[in-house]
Amino acid sequence: MSKNIKISASILNSNFAYLADEIKKVEKTGADMLHVDVMDGVFVPNITMGPPIIKCIRENTKLFMDVHLMITRPYRLLDSFIESGADSINVHVEECPHLDRTLNYIKEAGKKTAVALNPSTPLASVENVLGLVDMILIMTVNPGFGGQGFIGDMVYKIQRLKKMIEDYKRLTGRHDRVIDIQVDGGINLDTAPKVVGAGATVLSVGTSIFRADDPVAYVKSLRQKLTLTI
Ligand code: DX5
Ligand code: ZN
Repeated sequence: MSKNIKISASILNSNFAYLADEIKKVEKTGADMLHVDVMDGVFVPNITMGPPIIKCIRENTKLFMDVHLMITRPYRLLDSFIESGADSINVHVEECPHLDRTLNYIKEAGKKTAVALNPSTPLASVENVLGLVDMILIMTVNPGFGGQGFIGDMVYKIQRLKKMIEDYKRLTGRHDRVIDIQVDGGINLDTAPKVVGAGATVLSVGTSIFRADDPVAYVKSLRQKLTLTI
């Protein structure tokens, strides 16, 4: 791959009754990270899992675990998710009025910091935390469910975020800052080259991996396609 693109497998659409086997399946594909979706039925219209299950996942894999918190007021529960073994804690900006404080808390716990934005949330909401955040997640579907269609206008949002990060580095002189741009929702062989071309560096991929007849071959073809099209 000509750029350092990471594939983060979202287990939302895996078979939760056989979670350990599903995680093994992900490991076999050579995915770089595991994306774990936490939903509370309030911030999004669906409920998934919490810290006890994440702790069990941690005991079953060494993969880097990015925990995507689609919950109200995530700052109330940070300690539980930190203790559950997450490597990266991903909070939604829409639920964090004191985002700077929340990110500092995650960082001081020794975890990677990540902030997610719903499709209709403006980029200005993360402009003042570029010195703190390790990854910004541009939702490419409305959060809540796997298997939804990619929102095409998010390609433009990713391009503008990339520019915002470049401007930040130039204006502050912090050229060494590494901020990944993650996308989540509707990523497949067709949409992956578009988001990577716009500047995405971490692809959260769920349904297309788990619905593939051969997930190993699918991830391989995804990587090949990106090499050919970037
Ligand atoms: C959606 C979740 C996603 C979801 C993406 O709210 O945050 O992580 O699993 O999965 P696909 O690839 O099915 O769109
Ligand atoms: Zn997610």
